[in-house]
Amino acid sequence: MTPPRFDWLAPHYAWVEAATYGGLLHWCRTALLGELTDARRVLILGEGDGRFVSAFLAANPVAVVDVVDASAAMVALARRRVARLPGAADRVRWHVADARRFAPPAAPYDLVVTNFFLDCFPASGLTALVPHLAAALAPGGRWLVGDFALSAGGPARLAARAALAAMYAAFHLTTRIPARRLVDPSPLLRGVGMELVREERRLRGFLTASLWRKEE
Ligand SMILES: C[S@@+](CC[C@H](N)C(=O)[O-])C[C@H]1O[C@@H](n2cnc3c(N)ncnc32)[C@H](O)[C@@H]1O
Repeated sequence: MTPPRFDWLAPHYAWVEAATYGGLLHWCRTALLGELTDARRVLILGEGDGRFVSAFLAANPVAVVDVVDASAAMVALARRRVARLPGAADRVRWHVADARRFAPPAAPYDLVVTNFFLDCFPASGLTALVPHLAAALAPGGRWLVGDFALSAGGPARLAARAALAAMYAAFHLTTRIPARRLVDPSPLLRGVGMELVREERRLRGFLTASLWRKEE
């Protein structure tokens, strides 16, 4: 189980994203932020360069967060970004670790966040990871998933497939993520007792922010 290599990409991640998707991916990460102001104990996996966690901490002045990312360079960027927010740095614990082997230290959480993270794993990886993360959630806890999805039919679906094929080829080659194609995590989430409570979509569902709730 080799962790992927995002270190080299970390300093370029935001501008590459802006050049390819403009503000759309950040819309996806933060579309449901307004629903999360009551979260208190939060676990964020694969945070990247800190744009979600800093927006989250600004919107939620009380939550305490564990951030896990396998890339030390991503964590360093995220840390720097959070340090610029008054009073926020003390509310975050940073973990450079592979999520597949990580024992969440403050479980049970009332919120888990995976933005553009579950898409890094093949079906076999998700089959192990989703129950591992769901077990770290308290009953009634929520799970925010911001990610690509293949939902529209017709030409939009063909365009989405083409965009995903190009992205997976590039990411597999350059970062060594184990996934070769997008796997829909919804059946696995339902299988561990999660229910979809809210969803926002853009580009005919190609970008989807969804909020799931664990059964009591
Ligand atoms: C595609 S980037 C997404 C970053 C960010 N969440 C976003 O919204 O853009 C995937 C992130 O997950 C991290 N990652 C990938 N596989 C991981 C793993 N097995 N364990 C921990 N972090 C991982 C990478 O280092 C990277 O920061």
